[in-house]
Amino acid sequence: MKVDVSSLTQLENFAQLFSQNIKSGDVVFLQGDLGSGKTTFTQFLLKHLGYQGRVKSPTYAIYESYKLSQFELIHMDLYRLSSPEELYYMAIEEIIDNHNVVIIEWPQKGKGVLPPPSQTLTFKLLNSTLRELNLDNA
Ligand SMILES: Nc1ncnc2c1ncn2[C@@H]1O[C@H](COP(=O)(O)OP(=O)(O)OP(=O)(O)O)[C@@H](O)[C@H]1O
Ligand SMILES: [Mg+2]
Repeated sequence: MKVDVSSLTQLENFAQLFSQNIKSGDVVFLQGDLGSGKTTFTQFLLKHLGYQGRVKSPTYAIYESYKLSQFELIHMDLYRLSSPEELYYMAIEEIIDNHNVVIIEWPQKGKGVLPPPSQTLTFKLLNSTLRELNLDNA
């Protein structure tokens, strides 16, 4: 599935649709350029899953977790990981268990350690205002 997004409102609408199809145990890879909207998408997704607090980018912490009524959502950003094996020190097996939803920015940094995704969403910046989103369901 391919969607063109040229505003934050359109990104939010897509995140709302996405929120209706997500379920406990899903692992979602967010791929794409720096600044293409991965964190912003996750913020909208959390909002439409009912989370009312602040959502910060987990770039430094590597991950943040959010307790929702339906499941716990883990938002990871592996950009600063120096090797996939670092994930073992963070007890990755406990973070990615069958009950959580895990959203992962820069998943290629965890290659070989991360489980396969249930969905991959790829963000492409076509120009300064137009983005293309591609959703692949595994
Ligand atoms: N669809 C959009 N329309 C307009 N602005 C957007 C859109 N998506 C993201 N932005 C803006 O682009 C900037 C970068 O977005 P964001 O931090 O979500 O990118 P990212 O993909 O998470 O980047 P990184 O790889 O650095 O983590 C933010 O200021 C955000 O508001
Ligand atoms: Mg980000």
